[in-house]
Amino acid sequence: MSEPQAPLRILAFAGSLRRNSHNGRLLDTAAQIAPPGMVLTVHDTIADVPLFDEDVEASTPSPDGVTRLRIAVAAADGVLIATPEYNQSLPGVLKNTLDWLSRDDAELGEVLSGKPVAIFGATPGKWGTRLAQSQLRHALAAMGALTMPAPQLYMAEIASSYDAASDTFDAATRKRLLAFLEGFEAWVGKRLGRARAPCSLRLVSGEIQY
Ligand code: FNR
Repeated sequence: MSEPQAPLRILAFAGSLRRNSHNGRLLDTAAQIAPPGMVLTVHDTIADVPLFDEDVEASTPSPDGVTRLRIAVAAADGVLIATPEYNQSLPGVLKNTLDWLSRDDAELGEVLSGKPVAIFGATPGKWGTRLAQSQLRHALAAMGALTMPAPQLYMAEIASSYDAASDTFDAATRKRLLAFLEGFEAWVGKRLGRARAPCSLRLVSGEIQY
């Protein structure tokens, strides 16, 4: 009989510093509903990653916030990024964090190079962070990350699916999120040479269909 496989370790962070971030809340929800084959850990904040500056980079040691995140990314089987959209692009704080992560750490190397990454995003607006995700995908490709091509998840009008009193998203939102996580689990498993996880979603043009 084959040995049971250890769960996939997924490190997640949001491209928002906001306390009541929809993207942060969706990651907390993802950690709660993740499929059994996945342990999803949400990195508490990227607020401790300073503005990228090659002079700071050249001074040792690296800033604590950068080292903390690099270690977490290096230890994970995959990374999940939830991005808001600012001015039809990804937020500066997220791009700044990725610029740090793209650099060669003396001990950890380039932690995103070859790393399986999934992205999604939520906005109160109507377009679901399509443009932000497109640009995030572009930047991740430049740093050698393996970004999951499908399924894709664009969450529009997210405020209407969140209930502050119970601090939960509605069932339809949780279902879409779970299907996305199942797709990520199967895709990372394939990258790592694992058996494909059972997964019932259908893909049409890269988007999840129910
Ligand atoms: C936004 N927002 C926004 N939304 C969108 O769908 N497309 C956009 O281009 C922008 N542009 C934009 C610029 C700036 C400077 C701000 C502050 C906001 C709205 C944004 O999606 C909204 O504030 C989200 O709630 C931010 O994500 P979190 O913090 O809730 O995760």
